[in-house]
Amino acid sequence: MGARFKSIAGLTVGLAVLAGLAFYVAHTMTDGWAERDIRLRTQLAVNGARRSLVSYWSIDQQLDLAQVLVELVRDERMMAATSCAPEATVLAATPAYPPRFACASIASRFARGADPRAAVPSVWHGVDRLPGGPVHLSALPLTDQDRVLGFVVLVRDLGYAERRQTQASRLLLALFGLVAVAASGLTMLMARWSWRSWNEALRRLLRGDLAQAWFRPFVRDVRELVDRIVAEKEADHEAGAWTPERLKTALNRYLHGEKIVIVANREPYIHSRAKSGEIEVHHPASGLVTALEPVMQACSGVWIAHGGGSADRDTVDKHDRILVPPGEQSYLLRRVWLTPEQEKGYYYGFANEGLWPLSHLAHARPIFRGEDWKHYQTVNEKFADAVGAEVDADDPIVLVQDYHFALAPKFIRARLPRATVIMFWHIPWPNSERFGICPWRNELLDGMLGSSILGFHTQVHCNNFIDAIDRFLEARIDREQHAVVRNGRTTLVRPYPISLEWPSRWLKTAPSVEECRSSVLKELGLASDALIGVGVDRLDYTKGIEERILAVERLLERYPEFRGRFTFVQLAAPSRTIIERYRQLNEDVEKLAARVNERFGQGDYRPVVLLCSHHEPPTVFRFYRASDLCYVSALHDGMNLVAKEYAAARDDERGVLVLSQFTGAARELAEALIVNPYDLDQASAALAAALNMTREEQRDRMRSMRGLLADFNVYRWAGRMIEDAARLRSRDRLTGRLLDNAMGARDEGTTR
Ligand code: G6P
Repeated sequence: MGARFKSIAGLTVGLAVLAGLAFYVAHTMTDGWAERDIRLRTQLAVNGARRSLVSYWSIDQQLDLAQVLVELVRDERMMAATSCAPEATVLAATPAYPPRFACASIASRFARGADPRAAVPSVWHGVDRLPGGPVHLSALPLTDQDRVLGFVVLVRDLGYAERRQTQASRLLLALFGLVAVAASGLTMLMARWSWRSWNEALRRLLRGDLAQAWFRPFVRDVRELVDRIVAEKEADHEAGAWTPERLKTALNRYLHGEKIVIVANREPYIHSRAKSGEIEVHHPASGLVTALEPVMQACSGVWIAHGGGSADRDTVDKHDRILVPPGEQSYLLRRVWLTPEQEKGYYYGFANEGLWPLSHLAHARPIFRGEDWKHYQTVNEKFADAVGAEVDADDPIVLVQDYHFALAPKFIRARLPRATVIMFWHIPWPNSERFGICPWRNELLDGMLGSSILGFHTQVHCNNFIDAIDRFLEARIDREQHAVVRNGRTTLVRPYPISLEWPSRWLKTAPSVEECRSSVLKELGLASDALIGVGVDRLDYTKGIEERILAVERLLERYPEFRGRFTFVQLAAPSRTIIERYRQLNEDVEKLAARVNERFGQGDYRPVVLLCSHHEPPTVFRFYRASDLCYVSALHDGMNLVAKEYAAARDDERGVLVLSQFTGAARELAEALIVNPYDLDQASAALAAALNMTREEQRDRMRSMRGLLADFNVYRWAGRMIEDAARLRSRDRLTGRLLDNAMGARDEGTTR
């Protein structure tokens, strides 16, 4: 026992030291991060308001100047601001500006005892305390064409950081306590029994005499706890990163290797006939395909999609199937054929002129036509028929993808009542007021409720969906379970933020960063010290491509040092070109790029290079790797996988991601420079900050984003949905069996 005690004590002390060390490192790192982030944000805010500040910078325009300062502190953590003349007198301040941080007092701090008057800081930051908690102070100079106008002082609340730190410390302490107790307990238990025999013993105990009526609720709680611990313990055997192998194992474990069926409009491989007559294969520009294809490769099964390529019919067998990927053949692609009228009504019309603008806040008016709606229904039924033909069990797992198939879950359920239908909506879900615009809103909601699980990228979209149900349908909302119950059937509504395969397959064959850079420089005729920005999108009005080019224009206006040096390359894949709004966008983007090039181009130098054609992934990766920054300026986007792809492509930990706050990705990639793409001053300041960022900071930010993506990859996305589906299936099977048993017992009772 003495030896055992010693080893437990040793383990506990070891854990304590480790926890202390981890706490110290985490503390120092997050502190540094937070400080740098605050400095950058403060600088960006002042840069953004610079114009307005300069134009009202005088005591005679005190009211207007104060208004600019009020705008400047709109950010919820910014508390107050003041503007100071060079001799440290106040020009204007926001209401309730703390008097102890008056201009003269701040000036005396950065003047370090010298004459506080006539002192303008280069940039000064400090920390102080107010009765409400700690605050961060920044003094930033304001100049107008080399004339020093004075300086701006910003006061930022640091109370939240302190509260967060206290919470984190408490949590860490509690966690450590728990770990220590659990470790000691486990060591002792393991010494006496194996894990299994302990678990068995406890179960026996719970089943036995102690389970008296008054004790039952408590016993049930404990039993649930034990079940959970056992499940987690068993899951631990394979814990660690989600990989294709782990996903496969999960499938085999939970679903006994059942075949997965995916329903998606876009096919992962498009066969088309080139002018030479040869058949070519393309990877479409689609976030959905980028994410799902690796999942299918891991799981195998069938992908049912619209066969839209000019040589698609020539490459399938008599059942309209083809094994893909070409050369690897790990799963089946089943093509569904649509008539030109169906494609026009269902895809271009209802899906892309109706639901797409309805779901995105990007200023395009949704168009709903009765004719399109009919085609949408017919095509959804057609795909449900294809599912019926492809499944090999009466309770298959069917993954229905995106806004093209809102009705498919209901149609599939009518054909296969025992199927587990998981629907994932890849784009935003609008608020219910906006959703109410759709004349067939109730039918769409009803169709989607045919699913067992309904997934969105974010909790906000789940909430919007639940609100729409609340407003437009007769259904019970179970807010605790995040579920909707209608006609006795339950649909779980959960967030599953989508991601990428990790590591990306395109990285394996990508040339080195140096090679990528020199080939791109050569291709674009740029000097070896040129700075390159990159944007990669389908030509879609939701992507904010015009705002992006305008931000580049503003960058060159405000920061002349980048003229002649910075080139922004936009890879734009033509998309949905039959639709007028897309054709218009194409023209507008071309005109805008020409205007900026006209304004800032010189000799061979063109600041904006538009490459409007389809680019295969290896080319896209080459541009990512060659660039100094990537700007994702979407006006509204469910996730945006280009942002994640950029980080995935930079295994050299260089390059800066400038990311729109209106993307789902901005919630996960906090280390990007997050901007409002409509605010051109802010966006251009972020582009400048990205181009001036030190290598160390680029590395820190990129490393952190890549770390997140390695864990939160697409295998985890699929794995979590499959685990949830498995839980549902075993619950359904269990209740089905219990019901059967109960019916059996009742029948027996009556015959006896
Ligand atoms: C978005 C949609 C996908 C679609 C992709 C490309 O990401 O959510 O469903 O595949 O755009 O659009 P396309 O119309 O070419 O398939």
